[in-house]
Amino acid sequence: MNYSLSFPGRIIFGAGTVKDLPGLIPADSRVLLVTGSHAEKDGLLEFMQQLLIGFEAVSVCGIESEPPLSEVDKLIQAGRYSSSTAIVAIGGGSVIDAAKTAAALIPLEGMTADYFYDRLQIQGKGLFFAALPTTAGTGAEITPNAVLTDTKVSIKKSIRHQGMFADVAIIDPELTYSCPPALTAASGLDAFTQAVESYISKGANTVSRLLAGKAASLLMANIVQACKAPLDAAARSAMAEGSMLGAMAFTQSGLGAVHGLAHPIGGKLKIAHGLCCAILLLPVLKANRPSCRQHFKELAQLCGFDSADDFLAGIADIEKKLNIPDTFKKFGLDEEHFDFILKNCRSGSMQKNPRKFNNPELLEILKGLC
Ligand SMILES: [Fe+2]
Repeated sequence: MNYSLSFPGRIIFGAGTVKDLPGLIPADSRVLLVTGSHAEKDGLLEFMQQLLIGFEAVSVCGIESEPPLSEVDKLIQAGRYSSSTAIVAIGGGSVIDAAKTAAALIPLEGMTADYFYDRLQIQGKGLFFAALPTTAGTGAEITPNAVLTDTKVSIKKSIRHQGMFADVAIIDPELTYSCPPALTAASGLDAFTQAVESYISKGANTVSRLLAGKAASLLMANIVQACKAPLDAAARSAMAEGSMLGAMAFTQSGLGAVHGLAHPIGGKLKIAHGLCCAILLLPVLKANRPSCRQHFKELAQLCGFDSADDFLAGIADIEKKLNIPDTFKKFGLDEEHFDFILKNCRSGSMQKNPRKFNNPELLEILKGLC
């Protein structure tokens, strides 16, 4: 088996490691600090401004979730106007994805839509980029792509380039302590889905499976406790580490049909990515099982279960405890959406799925979710 591995320039993990950030940013940088909308109220914005006191810095606080192209444009304009040379993003996946794209595009010509629709191509490395996640979920700090939404046509897809890897990813579990239980559940189940899809992916290799198996076991064992007791340091640390390892895995292997379907469903029905993946996980896994029995069995054992059946029952039990709905009924999924979903689900993720689903097979899954 041949493979090549790519990661951010530097990955730092552990409680309190956010304090390492200033020493990792090139001296004399002009920093654009990008945070989520809660950062001001939570005191995180002030904390970061103090941490970056040695740099000339401007802040943009608040990025819409499932970031629309206009949110990235806002950052590009701020960065070009203030001649930023470095971007620090601290927040959830939306904040990191928007900032990651801005870091790539600020030194180039054009705006986000030009790259989203392939009218222009990213050339090489953008600005210095540091990513610090405040959720244990998307893995956006590790990946070289950003999921963006054109809200006018409900199209959600990735901009991707090797130059978009963060220069520094700092995964400090303490940054996740203030993440509320519902978001901890949805982002944690996204991370778990990513680990599982990576493990059974057609693109998996020895290294990605080692990372994905460990990630899945950490996430499965700790997600309920992290939601129940947000200040449980051990559970938060395990979730953050699981999310990081899962992202290191799927960056190499690719994902699968849950992520293939989650983008058009989430884009059309305006459902947050993590929740969308959580709802799709069980029906897609059940449909995938005949095509990856051995890997499924291995993964079940790594997560502490004797059989694939027990593993699936364990996932169902966790989703019940975390109040995850088992269909998209309350979000209004209907047969009228099926054409759009089928037309827009054949992304890179779908290509890596262990079972090659045809349209009637996908329709079968979708009908069960209405
Ligand atoms: Fe995901």
